Amino acid sequence: MTTTVRRVALVTGASAGIGRAFALALADRGHDLVLVARDTERLEELAEELRAAYGASAEVLTADLSDPAALARVEARVSDRDRPIDLLVNNAGFGTSGRFAALPVEREAQEIQLNVIALVRLTHAALGAQIDRGRGGVINVGSIAGYQPTPGNAIYGATKAFVRSFTQGVHEELKGSGVKCMVLSPGFTRTEFQQRAGFDSSEVPGFLWQDAPTVVQHALRAYDKGRAECVPGPLNTATAVFSAVTPHSVTRRIAGVVVSRSEK
Ligand SMILES: NC(=O)c1ccc[n+]([C@@H]2O[C@H](COP(=O)([O-])OP(=O)(O)OC[C@H]3O[C@@H](n4cnc5c(N)ncnc54)[C@H](OP(=O)(O)O)[C@@H]3O)[C@@H](O)[C@H]2O)c1
Repeated sequence: MTTTVRRVALVTGASAGIGRAFALALADRGHDLVLVARDTERLEELAEELRAAYGASAEVLTADLSDPAALARVEARVSDRDRPIDLLVNNAGFGTSGRFAALPVEREAQEIQLNVIALVRLTHAALGAQIDRGRGGVINVGSIAGYQPTPGNAIYGATKAFVRSFTQGVHEELKGSGVKCMVLSPGFTRTEFQQRAGFDSSEVPGFLWQDAPTVVQHALRAYDKGRAECVPGPLNTATAVFSAVTPHSVTRRIAGVVVSRSEK
């Protein structure tokens, strides 16, 4: 009798939004899941849905990834060679709104801790075992905000610029190893993100928005092809290309004017 070994994906920030959509799509593709976030009740509900709808096994790992002790528990799970993780999705993240000097610095440091430090440590924890096995991969969730300075969300854009640069650097280092590393850079996506960040997105036209399952479908297609980056959809791609070819001295001024107007 042959037994098929199911692949296992660990998704951070799986309790809502893009992370939840990743968990559902990966279960649909035959993965078992390890679900990480702070809200145990929401994770347990999702785990139950994954078991019932897809026959997937789903492990709940409650952790505040901005807390070093909790992060260390998740790192230990990711690097456990007896229970290998085939795909790590570093998705948990948040943003803050307002002028940097006026924002509480502890919250800004927490944003760097989650969006950058946790993502780096978990990527490192995953890659060691994956390189030894010659397969597996990591998807790091950045943002289109990582393409330019973002006055009004200065730390957020900077963390996402880090994610984009870091992930593409590692992608190149992994060539020939059998292991993949891709950054997903979404634009406006309907999730809880804007509300949690205090972003007023009421002026953002409807055609610029995507839903989380659509973003994830783009991401998984690009990951299958071994891409270094996925910018989901033609509108986000056009924005990314514009930001990439326009000097920061121009994009930061445009963004600064928009922010100043919205503050009036
Ligand atoms: N929505 C957008 O427009 C957009 C655009 C570009 C990029 N992104 C990026 O996409 C990613 C997912 O965001 P989303 O839009 O899906 O937002 P969301 O709906 O607010 O979901 C964020 C997820 O992260 C988890 N999380 C937050 N803080 C955490 C912490 N300290 N430790 C562990 N988990 C934590 C949340 O769960 P708990 O509260 O249960 O911990 C939740 O599951 C983020 O990295 C974000 O920067 C979003």
